[in-house]
Amino acid sequence: MKVTVFGVGYVGLVQAAVMAEVGHDVCCVDVDSAKVEDLNRGLVPIYEPGLEPMVKQNHAEGRLQFTTDAAQGVAHGEVQFIAVGTPPDEDGSADLKYVLAVARTVAQHMDKPRVIVNKSTVPVGTADKVTQAVATTLVERGADIPFQVVSNPEFLKEGAAISDCMRPDRIVIGSSDADAIATMRELYEPFNRQQDRTVVMDVRSAELTKYAANCMLATKISFMNEMANLAEKLGADIEAVRKGIGSDPRIGYHFIYPGCGYGGSCFPKDVQALIRTADGIEHDAQILKAVERVNDNQKSVLMRNIQRHFGDRLKGKTLALWGLAFKPNTDDMREAPSRVLLEALWQAGARVQAFDPEAMEETQRIFGQRDDLVLMGTKEAALHGADALVICTEWQAFRAPDFELIKSELAEPVIFDGRNLYDPDRVAGRGFDYYAIGRGLSVQRG
Ligand code: UDX
Repeated sequence: MKVTVFGVGYVGLVQAAVMAEVGHDVCCVDVDSAKVEDLNRGLVPIYEPGLEPMVKQNHAEGRLQFTTDAAQGVAHGEVQFIAVGTPPDEDGSADLKYVLAVARTVAQHMDKPRVIVNKSTVPVGTADKVTQAVATTLVERGADIPFQVVSNPEFLKEGAAISDCMRPDRIVIGSSDADAIATMRELYEPFNRQQDRTVVMDVRSAELTKYAANCMLATKISFMNEMANLAEKLGADIEAVRKGIGSDPRIGYHFIYPGCGYGGSCFPKDVQALIRTADGIEHDAQILKAVERVNDNQKSVLMRNIQRHFGDRLKGKTLALWGLAFKPNTDDMREAPSRVLLEALWQAGARVQAFDPEAMEETQRIFGQRDDLVLMGTKEAALHGADALVICTEWQAFRAPDFELIKSELAEPVIFDGRNLYDPDRVAGRGFDYYAIGRGLSVQRG
């Protein structure tokens, strides 16, 4: 099938690549000419395992093209994906200006029937607004061309985006039009071979499904972080509690890891957007507000432990920081807990020597050159001359470090672990003070 994707951000580019990979003929349109030029030269602007070779190969074989020419894009695909950004505006609601601009662009150029698909995460009711924008533009042109607007939310995880898209656990199609549904089924057929994973529903339910999924996951994390804080004060160990509750299949082991808060481009934004949507219809989204509050508070948990340890000795200290990205296998720093920690440490007059396997360039871009941040080439180098070690991201490379080396490099043998990577007894046995999350019984045994 011929498909067009507007917006080669994270979602758009991954979606385009996997569709080309299964044989569809995909044209990507973006207003950013530098990005389009790079992609046409095989340069992929984001780090995502498996994405670059997939883009390069499909581009070379002619199934994946990139252009800034919207008219060409609209002429190309019978299906037109909208995968542009929906950044939060000042009050936290999703800003639809880019989505609606694409809708009008499609309407301006289309001369055949088109299925227009919302892939961006958009508030409930957006499909109606897109329909309105397309219809109005067609009327202005004096054109009478049939079209359908479908909601088809994306559920990919950064770092596993390719496999999530190649083997989706569900394909949500929001539409009440039989032809549009048939077109979408055909498009997704190659991803659906083993088992039909399509869930067809009305467009508003599809829009809400995306928010409900992310908000449920964010709720699980904030719930566990609240339990961790309770465990800390009650002298219980949240890791034992986690295993104890996860064994109940109704609860499950997934997404119940306590930590230094959730980040990324989705959870913070989507929780906030659904709160605003609820506010807009005079519904007080009490759970979601609590989820957000707990998370904001959790992003300071490392700093609280650091202050607990150093008291008023923190000024002038150097902290080694392992992990800057909001989670492993990405260079994404959006809403990363590390950013809150960095700002708090600088505020307190401390310096940071940081290392992340992928997010160093991004850190440099965000914070620029400053005396109180030194980016180090390896995790070992980050330790050199530092007073203590802090861990923000659970990269595999941090899971089994050389504790002897850590001890010999640090001025004080103390580790602040925001991801509960180590066995507290073992670390304490090696002579460290070990501050983890919600493991009150085990800290400061060193
Ligand atoms: C998420 C959803 O998983 C995905 O389905 C949706 O399409 C987009 O949002 P992503 O933002 O890539 O994906 O990250 P995810 O792996 O879900 O992690 C989100 C955050 O939660 C990270 O900061 C992670 O560290 C944190 N997290 C996750 C926890 O703190 N504890 C957990 O148990 C799981």
